[in-house]
Amino acid sequence: DFRKKRERLLALNKEAARFFHARLQAPEGRAGAEYLFGKRKLSRGTVTRFGLGMAPEGWDHLITAMAQKGYEKVELLECGLVVKGQNGRVYDRFRNRVMFPIIDLRGDVIGFGGRVLDDSTPKYLNSPDTPVFNKGRNLFALNIAKKSRLGRIILTEGYMDTISLHQAGFDCAVASLGTALTPEHAQLLSRYTKEAIIAYDGDGAGVSAAQRAIPILEKTGMKVRVLRVKGAKDPDEFLKTYGPEAFAKLLDQSENHIEYRIEQVLGRYDLTDDAQKVEFLKEVVGVIAGLHSPVEREVYGARCAELAGISAEAMGQEVKRELSRRI
Ligand code: CTP
Ligand code: MN
Ligand code: MN
Ligand code: MN
Ligand code: MN
Repeated sequence: DFRKKRERLLALNKEAARFFHARLQAPEGRAGAEYLFGKRKLSRGTVTRFGLGMAPEGWDHLITAMAQKGYEKVELLECGLVVKGQNGRVYDRFRNRVMFPIIDLRGDVIGFGGRVLDDSTPKYLNSPDTPVFNKGRNLFALNIAKKSRLGRIILTEGYMDTISLHQAGFDCAVASLGTALTPEHAQLLSRYTKEAIIAYDGDGAGVSAAQRAIPILEKTGMKVRVLRVKGAKDPDEFLKTYGPEAFAKLLDQSENHIEYRIEQVLGRYDLTDDAQKVEFLKEVVGVIAGLHSPVEREVYGARCAELAGISAEAMGQEVKRELSRRI
């Protein structure tokens, strides 16, 4: 039946994670150990805590090892651990990659991410959705972050961002698994924290992903802040370059989502130009009118008015007009 099947697939995933992890001590996994400990500067403790591993070069290392444990190829297929070729033969999906097991809230291994050791593509390969894995409903490291006492959750884009944050003492970091944040993700987070801090990459993709994530997180009633990574591509690189104390400062400086959105709009206009100033005001009126709370509208409306050098009253009137237009 379904439950038995599920348990069997979860047991297989766990065996696979053990196999990948053990390869770090074996000659065929040496490149992976060098990559994780050397290039990525992870400690033994971190690698153990996250159960990281290595899928060796070759087509059937996992198939062979799992066969010895009594697992059939069809089961490996169902777990997404192998792929069926055009000739009908199956081969290991993850080859010559460092492996990141994805563990759910119960502690079961439900899937994997695998990263190449160089700059070939695709950089990451993830398990497909399977009977035990759904990307839209699971967050990497939430099984650890849910126990954090930091009282907030830091949401990152990547496996390595989250792992480096944990290594640096920020044990409240999680990552969405190479997909956009979903309402289910947000709901899940809100069960464990009242405050979510978005710490996505500083590139254009990260900024627009943050903008999409804000309303989804807000809808659950969580406080939402946005952290800006400065002087580095992402939280992992920031920590490597500037260290944990500097990251703690970024956390302190992180803005609430309203300030963040106003800043985004501000960045696109030159307020010394009157025509652009008017465009800026039109756009922020839209942002302010979208806030649920009259107090927030008042406070942030006044702030925008000040930025543009107009009166808070004029701003208030524009917001009021926009609100009545929306009804
Ligand atoms: N990702 C993916 N498939 C890719 C590229 C990215 O699934 N081909 C997902 C991964 O979960 C990755 C995240 O998107 O961690 C963020 O992508 P990116 O910023 O490109 O990677 P990093 O996490 O920074 O990877 P690294 O530091 O290892 O280079
Ligand atoms: Mn990116
Ligand atoms: Mn990175
Ligand atoms: Mn990145
Ligand atoms: Mn709000």
